[in-house]
Amino acid sequence: MVLKTAGELELMHAANRIVQEVLDAIGERLEPGVTTRDLDRFAEEKIRSSGGVPAFLNYKGYPATLCTSVNDVIVHGIPNDDPLLEGDIVGVDCGVLYQGYYGDSARSFSVGQVSSEAERLLEVTRTSLMLAIEQVRPDGRLSDIGNAVQTHVEAAGFSVVREFVGHGIGTALHEDPQVPNFGAPGRGVRLRPGLVLAIEPMVNVGTPSVKTDPDGWTARTADGSLSAHFEYSVAVTEDGPRILGVEAA
Ligand code: MF3
Ligand code: CO
Repeated sequence: MVLKTAGELELMHAANRIVQEVLDAIGERLEPGVTTRDLDRFAEEKIRSSGGVPAFLNYKGYPATLCTSVNDVIVHGIPNDDPLLEGDIVGVDCGVLYQGYYGDSARSFSVGQVSSEAERLLEVTRTSLMLAIEQVRPDGRLSDIGNAVQTHVEAAGFSVVREFVGHGIGTALHEDPQVPNFGAPGRGVRLRPGLVLAIEPMVNVGTPSVKTDPDGWTARTADGSLSAHFEYSVAVTEDGPRILGVEAA
């Protein structure tokens, strides 16, 4: 586990600020008829004009700037030319490399009016992330993060994806430790100031099972149910969690 200095945390905040600005702008552009390729082009331009580099593009051969995961796609959906439709939900995951440091964050959005179940899925998944972040503090235990996600999600009748996990982040997109979104509380490494974790719950309406498309990336729910994904890069500080890229309230 790599602990970052205060100066490094400012650079990671700057990288994540670009990510948040991209996600904010995408939220404003999302409407029926827009394609995920339009969003991807827009994101790449915005990242580069901010002095950053898209972090996912060419990562292990990934072909785009964003992951855009529509409806039953859990994560790693590849942008394409299909127009988004009223009632869709779409997870948008964005990574930026800026001055040697990575930022990584995701939000799921609704396109126009969505079903009440889709609305509830988005709300439960987002809240599970915020409850997980509340567990981030010096001497906290890693598994309390996943336990907070799992407890909230399962109480709502949804399920937590096991195949993909959050991760440490810094000068690499993926650092130790892995951050599962499930498990017993009070286990795993102790959190230390300077540790930065990308916490990213993926939540399915139906079963937690995953199947991957022949493209080798697109991960879908095995049962075709809806899935949502939210992610923040979060630093452990003496005062508790600091969500990077977002100004403190
Ligand atoms: N947030 C995801 C992750 O941490 C996004 C990676 S997409 C990839 O794994 F294309 F870069 F793999
Ligand atoms: Co991530």
